[in-house]
Amino acid sequence: MKILVVGNGGREHALAWCLAQSARVNTVFVAPGNAGTATTPKLENVDYQHVSQLISFCRQQAIDFTVVGPEAPLAAGIVDDFRAAGLAIFGPDRYCAQLESSKDFAKQFMRQHNIPTAAATTFDDAAAAHDYIQQHSLPVVIKADGLAAGKGVVVAQTHQEAHQAIDDMLLDQQLGQAGARVVIEDFLVGEEASFIVMVDGQHVLPLATSQDHKRLLDHDQGPNTGGMGAYSPAPVVTPAVHQRVLEQIILPAVRGMQASGHPYTGFLYAGLMIDDQGQPYTIEFNCRLGDPETQAILSRLDSDLAGLIQAALAGRLDQVAAQWQPQTAVAVVLAAKGYPQAVQSGDPIQGLDAARQQAHVFQAATLLNQQGQTITNGGRVLSVVGLGNDVASARQQAYQALENIRFAGMQYRQDIGHKALSAEVADKAATTDKA
Ligand code: AMP
Ligand code: GLY
Repeated sequence: MKILVVGNGGREHALAWCLAQSARVNTVFVAPGNAGTATTPKLENVDYQHVSQLISFCRQQAIDFTVVGPEAPLAAGIVDDFRAAGLAIFGPDRYCAQLESSKDFAKQFMRQHNIPTAAATTFDDAAAAHDYIQQHSLPVVIKADGLAAGKGVVVAQTHQEAHQAIDDMLLDQQLGQAGARVVIEDFLVGEEASFIVMVDGQHVLPLATSQDHKRLLDHDQGPNTGGMGAYSPAPVVTPAVHQRVLEQIILPAVRGMQASGHPYTGFLYAGLMIDDQGQPYTIEFNCRLGDPETQAILSRLDSDLAGLIQAALAGRLDQVAAQWQPQTAVAVVLAAKGYPQAVQSGDPIQGLDAARQQAHVFQAATLLNQQGQTITNGGRVLSVVGLGNDVASARQQAYQALENIRFAGMQYRQDIGHKALSAEVADKAATTDKA
């Protein structure tokens, strides 16, 4: 079998690596890929400028199916284009991808289908937004309607911050078209988790749960990022919470899309806030896998991912199951100097081979230079995934392995998995108390 993965991040390296584990898979092409996908056995990079070139490539190579990693090509309609060309592709079409590409669309959809989420109002007029903010309790959340690569959300602690965010987006157009409309929503309290499922239009196959670490610095301080680390499973998603997420969020979303005449296919990611009663609320929908959640989740997958995707493409997800290693996975992101603002690129990376002896290393913003050396090429450079019988040992493996890696200005969080670790410690203490 030959498969094409679209994207160039750590998520796509993990996806391609995981697909390549199957004995039935000969080659996984990655477009455009990175230095990691260029050097992993059975993986091969493909350069492209336009989707039409990928379509020709798939025809020439007789690619069995394509999987799309990032949201931008999905929002631009890559799935519609491939389908029109008669090619198999796993992802949502452009209509369904609006669940991620327009916060206003997602809010209306959630209201229509009674999916629990924060109350929100949409504005394109700055004066009206300012008036509304003045009456609103704090904190208040201001979100750019469109795709803003993780920069479109401001959790304002003061009215002044909220007014500033509105001016930045609506008046100064700092996020361009993405910020030409804003959604202002209530602040939700609780613990976050990422709940990702595969959807075949009708049936749903949940993947293992996970938790992301969005802030740059330890103890959830500093600016929001694309994600600085993740672990799987997320203990906050108890079996009861899992059931509620499926019944109240995922299944209504899938049925809602079916009813609209646009059945959802692909990975569907619900970003959750779970309150202290175990009630989940939808912070956002993404129409793809998470990054770095994927690196943690797929490190635990025992089933053949290519087979699961084939089942989804055939509308048979109800007939398959995914097997997960009981071990915990902890993924730590190594980011470049300056991330998430202006990043420094072009620095040689040392110690990758030594780190790979001890843990999974998935590359993201990396490039092979003319000497064949791996150099940094953007914000989130690598992620290192440790596996262990508990969070503490998975963390230890990840952090020990990453000690081998060096590049100028490398930054990473020391506390990935801390919430699960405290849950684990509390659990052990409770067990000891009972004993
Ligand atoms: P998003 O890009 O929508 O996932 O938002 C980025 C981050 O902002 C989330 O991971 C949350 O930490 C925070 N956030 C977004 N919306 C809310 C909300 N309504 N209440 C509390 N925190 C939020
Ligand atoms: N890690 C968050 C995301 O992929 O959206």
